[in-house]
Amino acid sequence: MRFRSLILACLSTGLFAQDQDRRPTPMPLPPVHKAMGKGETSKDFHSYADPSQVLTTHIALDLKADFEKRALMGNATLRLKLLDKSADHVDLDTRDLEIQKTEVSRDGKAWKAVDHVLAAKEPILGSKLTISLPKGYRFLRVSYRTSPGASGLQWLTPEQTAGKKSPFMFSQSQAINARSWVPCQDSPRLRITYSAVIRTPKNLRAVMSADNDPNAKRTGTYRFNMPNPIPSYLMAIAIGELDFRSLGKRTGVYAEPSVLPKAAKELEDTEKMVAATEKLYGPYTWGRYDILMLPPSFPYGGMENPRLTFATPTILAGDKSLVSLIAHELAHSWSGNLVTNATWSDVWLNEGFTTYVERRIVEAIYGRRHEEMEAILGRQTLQHLVDTLPAADTALWFSMKGRDPDEDTSEIAYEKGALFLRTIEEAVGRAPFDAFLRVYFHRFAFQSITTADFEAYFLKNLMQKFPEKKDAVAMREWIYSPGVPKGAAVPQSDAFELVESGLKPWLEGRAAASSISTKYWSTQEWQHFLQKMPESLSLAQMKELDEAFHFTDVGNAEIAFLWLQLSIRHNYAPANGRLQAYLIGIGRRKLILPLYSELAKTPEGKIRALDIYKQARPGYHPLAQSSIDQVLGMRP
Ligand code: BES
Ligand code: ZN
Repeated sequence: MRFRSLILACLSTGLFAQDQDRRPTPMPLPPVHKAMGKGETSKDFHSYADPSQVLTTHIALDLKADFEKRALMGNATLRLKLLDKSADHVDLDTRDLEIQKTEVSRDGKAWKAVDHVLAAKEPILGSKLTISLPKGYRFLRVSYRTSPGASGLQWLTPEQTAGKKSPFMFSQSQAINARSWVPCQDSPRLRITYSAVIRTPKNLRAVMSADNDPNAKRTGTYRFNMPNPIPSYLMAIAIGELDFRSLGKRTGVYAEPSVLPKAAKELEDTEKMVAATEKLYGPYTWGRYDILMLPPSFPYGGMENPRLTFATPTILAGDKSLVSLIAHELAHSWSGNLVTNATWSDVWLNEGFTTYVERRIVEAIYGRRHEEMEAILGRQTLQHLVDTLPAADTALWFSMKGRDPDEDTSEIAYEKGALFLRTIEEAVGRAPFDAFLRVYFHRFAFQSITTADFEAYFLKNLMQKFPEKKDAVAMREWIYSPGVPKGAAVPQSDAFELVESGLKPWLEGRAAASSISTKYWSTQEWQHFLQKMPESLSLAQMKELDEAFHFTDVGNAEIAFLWLQLSIRHNYAPANGRLQAYLIGIGRRKLILPLYSELAKTPEGKIRALDIYKQARPGYHPLAQSSIDQVLGMRP
């Protein structure tokens, strides 16, 4: 998802080693748009942009947020670079945008109207917008407004927020939803810088994946700049009643006022995480690292919007037990935001590397024992996917042609990718692998690469030094074959062995649930405990578990998820009320979609699912709605 001499030069001058314990010096920006892969396997099937003709280098947004109409309205000015001098038009990606006017300019000052054609909407890609480009014009201005159902935006009523007083709006651009709020060349292999003027109701604050000013007065007009070139899927915006609390020198959190104290407490290790990651992989190049705590309808756990990670409040467990999610989003500041997958088939280069780095951060901050529990939970997820998905979808690289990256990005990319990297680490040793990754992140910083680019670089810069490890690493098998290769690393946890040895006598009817010694268990031990429950669990056993451990009332969203899944599976009626409240209260797709799927397995369950969904759907994000519509057969 090439250049030996450079690498050696970096290593021998100790460029990285020296920087590790100092404040980072900003990294010079390398030229953009390098490392473009060639051929069919590197084609981005999810964009209408033709980067061989015209490239966008900068987007300047001027948008007003209208909460009544649920629309962003205004214009986007694209600065263009013509690679093919004879190009007479430019194709942009859009989805459900109302295009009002298209103009061109030579200097960004004097504008002249030009023709455009908005093609019919394709189910996955949206509508191609073709704009005429007379010779010599380098600026393009598109006046437009978004649709209330824009796939990449969610508009919340005051009742759907914690404070209940003001509305809220946020974006989710990854994978291909930037086009639903900005007309652009929406491909991860193309990079832009961006600036924005955002107009909001006066009492609200706008934040973006850019240079937020925590001290900005709430004036209703906010200006942003993102000076580093980023792929379009990292453009992000949120507007709401947001306050800020500092967490450290360059870290902080934005949240609604009533959520802020809890969020700040839960996220108190963020500054340490940034320092730990720099120590491992080199300087953090983005300036500030802030976190935006969103309302519970946020469809993801987290989103690595540069300088401003978006996060679900379902990680606010009260004991920091779910903050590996922050480690994950922070890790993307290297794996993903610096080195980006060129196409959505290469997404393992983003997510697999990030999951590996996430675990390294967790190890550095919370210790190996904790990290190993998370690694085993990941290994179990991977096994489940390998056992249930079509074999072809369990390779790290697979063709995304004709598929929707917003529906079809599975955890294979995360967990198989992470296990591959751990297998490499164990084969060649941690120090050489860390050194390799540091140089890799630097070499491809601000670029987008394909799996083939990675393979070539990896063989040349790491495996050539360890020819005897070729079979142990089995690179091509990991990338192109289904399942998990034989020599895969095996995470180890005595903590989980203890959980299993507590569970066994109870399952065999030799001990009461209440006699299991759970006093010092963390969230991860509880997760393991619940995941180890057999298919044959009886209703009486469910009841005993609930009486002993009060699972139906547990506050931790991840533990509740596993318990509710079991409750549906085993028809445990006392959890029905909690299930309904959970599905209505949370919109994180990963936590709700499997519960709807589990319900939909029986005819009675499906009726319940549809009933709950009728109430819950209006509160869900368009991306979650679309996935659940499919699971419940509400769409072809
Ligand atoms: N970048 C992803 C979210 C994403 C992936 C959005 C693909 C659209 C397409 C983000 O970093 C992520 O992986 N989030 C996870 C949390 C993580 C701890 C596994 C999530 O949302 O659950
Ligand atoms: Zn991720």
